[in-house]
Amino acid sequence: MKNHWLLWSVLCVGTFAVFVVIFAMWRDGNHRVSDAKEYLPIRKWQRVKEVSADEYSKVHETVLRDQLMGTVILPRVPEVQGLVAAKHPQDVGIVPPQVCGQCHAEHWSECQQSPHFRTSSEPSREGTPERYEPPDNRVETFHPRAWFEVVAKPNGFYQQLHIEYAGQSFLHEARMDFVLGSGKVGQSFLSWTKDALHQLPVSYFTDGARWGHSPGFDYKEGTFNFARPITERCLDCHATWFERVPQTINHFARDEFQLGVTCSRCHGSGREHVEHHQAHPNETIPHAIANPAKLSRGLAVAVCAQCHSGGSELVSTGFRYQPGEPIEEYLVQSSADVDSDNSIPDPHAANQLRRLEKSACFRQSDLTCFTCHDPHRNERGREKLLVDRCLKCHQPDDCHQRKLTGDAVDRLCIECHMPLVEYADIRRPGQDSMPIPKMRDHRIQVWPAATADVLQRLSKPSSGASTRGDK
Ligand code: HEC
Ligand code: HEC
Ligand code: HEC
Ligand code: HEC
Ligand code: HEC
Ligand code: HEC
Ligand code: HEC
Repeated sequence: MKNHWLLWSVLCVGTFAVFVVIFAMWRDGNHRVSDAKEYLPIRKWQRVKEVSADEYSKVHETVLRDQLMGTVILPRVPEVQGLVAAKHPQDVGIVPPQVCGQCHAEHWSECQQSPHFRTSSEPSREGTPERYEPPDNRVETFHPRAWFEVVAKPNGFYQQLHIEYAGQSFLHEARMDFVLGSGKVGQSFLSWTKDALHQLPVSYFTDGARWGHSPGFDYKEGTFNFARPITERCLDCHATWFERVPQTINHFARDEFQLGVTCSRCHGSGREHVEHHQAHPNETIPHAIANPAKLSRGLAVAVCAQCHSGGSELVSTGFRYQPGEPIEEYLVQSSADVDSDNSIPDPHAANQLRRLEKSACFRQSDLTCFTCHDPHRNERGREKLLVDRCLKCHQPDDCHQRKLTGDAVDRLCIECHMPLVEYADIRRPGQDSMPIPKMRDHRIQVWPAATADVLQRLSKPSSGASTRGDK
């Protein structure tokens, strides 16, 4: 009899326990789709996982499968045997642009305003003080008790993660050491951990002038990510020179680097040129320097293709392409179909070259990228200037449409023949509210849908010519 009761109570408690476990699992599984507000216990928030650059992509995938819910991911940086000293830029031939400016004053002063020069820099408060003050400096996450703050301190700029839950609090902060992007669409921020570079979780979006989650970071999944490694390729497109520590993904010499896409990336290293002309001040024949305009067309556009040919991987190390060399030895181009508009493999850099090559303008003339673009200047939004470049080769009357619409179309060539396209791939999971940058399709041809769109706008009294905010 006694044994019976014991058995019964064990069974009851056991069943109850199983029920509790099942209920907990049900809630666990369910909150992914429902609201996470009340669910996540602080012990999970505070779970901190350190990952190395090698492990990152694996962990990132796991995170996407929800198994690390609530985890703060921080970079694990292996002990370094003393920071690696960089070679001096001059020894690898990289001449700082101010040196070029000693003899090419006009190019130097123009270039400093160009998006190329400003595409990487050190953060400053200049012009943007309100970014670092409340309430503008706060970025919410999917959980009301976890948020980011971007703060300016006397010794630099920081991104902080705050978690407050059930009377406990957690803070992690990382210094913003570099800004990536001139700010046309937005800016991302990089941070040193010893000699390793990582991308920070919060970026700045020009549209709406606000901070937001960095593209490709999936906070909806409940992770707080400070560990995304910055690869050499990322810097190869956005800077002039960094020296990567061999056998690492994201370790770089900290003492010497050259920010911005500056003269040497398009003209070659230049040291011999400088030394020669300093020694022979009366010499007017250029010595040992590349001028893209004097290269064959294939090699001229290759200079731009270093960074404007979509998703591509470095063959070996970056920062060593010299104008005049075949680009295939430097980059492995993506084989993705660039013909369908939305299939750009790289998240944000369009393949202007491949699109342009398909155009009649390119095939039937000696057109290059710099027929239309002066890479030394900031020509952003200067529509008339760009239309004038079409008119280097075309007469307005070449356009049959003009016969129908009259001269109203004269300043709109680009709107109809190089329409803005939304590259949907740029939008990442968890970024539903993020604006998708629009870019010009460099396949120049007759686009009936774009024409219909422009004609419709022209027929309205308040017709705006432009469809993009930055004009
Ligand atoms: C000591 C003076 C001096 C310095 C410094 C200098 N240059 Fe030059 N550069 C010249 C002279 C002189 C010429 C030939 C005359 C001309 O084209 O203006 C020239 C010509 C050029 C040309 C035209 C080449 C051609 O074939 O048409 C380019 C491009 C150029 N320099 C780029 C640079 C770059 C990039 C730097 C920095 C790495 C630089 N220069 C530094 C003096 C200098
Ligand atoms: C293949 C070259 C390439 C690589 C690799 C690349 N970018 Fe870019 N990036 C570009 C180009 C080109 C643009 C400008 C887009 C345009 O207007 O065509 C750009 C734009 C940006 C912008 C916006 C700039 C602005 O002014 O609005 C940011 C921020 C940015 N990149 C960050 C990154 C980060 C972070 C990485 C690495 C994780 C990276 N990029 C890797 C070429 C590249
Ligand atoms: C993004 C690529 C790029 C950068 C950066 C760049 N250049 Fe150029 N540069 C070119 C191209 C392309 C041409 C040929 C332009 C043409 O003929 O239309 C050129 C031409 C020149 C010329 C020949 C004269 C002329 O204007 O045609 C000089 C001199 C020159 N660049 C100097 C400089 C200096 C100095 C810097 C840095 C302060 C610099 N460039 C930065 C791409 C670049
Ligand atoms: C080393 C990489 C690199 C090279 C080489 C390069 N670009 Fe760029 N270019 C960039 C990046 C990165 C941006 C985005 C700048 C930003 O807004 O932050 C950019 C932006 C531009 C823009 C848009 C400027 C704007 O108004 O926003 C044009 C046009 C352009 N590049 C043309 C050229 C041409 C033409 C060449 C070749 C002569 C060239 N680029 C070579 C990296 C490069
Ligand atoms: C270096 C000269 C050159 C420049 C600059 C140039 N084009 Fe062309 N374009 C041509 C040639 C050559 C053709 C082929 C012959 C023709 O159709 O007139 C062509 C063809 C075209 C066509 C017909 C395409 C087709 O598939 O039938 C359009 C549309 C066009 N261009 C628009 C433009 C626009 C818009 C610009 C400025 C953004 C421009 N072009 C700049 C040389 C140029
Ligand atoms: C026929 C003229 C023409 C040629 C050639 C041309 N572009 Fe453009 N490009 C434009 C126009 C027009 C825009 C739009 C500028 C604007 O809206 O401010 C543009 C925009 C850009 C941008 C800024 C991103 C965007 O889409 O708004 C980049 C980067 C760029 N071009 C790179 C290149 C490169 C690299 C080449 C050579 C492969 C090239 N372009 C050749 C006319 C041209
Ligand atoms: C409202 C849209 C629109 C504007 C603006 C526009 N075009 Fe066109 N364009 C068209 C259409 C549509 C066609 C094809 C018409 C046809 O074949 O009947 C065309 C045809 C052309 C052609 C090809 C002619 C041929 O025989 O293949 C060229 C070149 C051209 N346009 C250049 C330009 C230039 C340069 C400008 C600016 C001065 C311009 N277009 C402005 C819509 C436009």
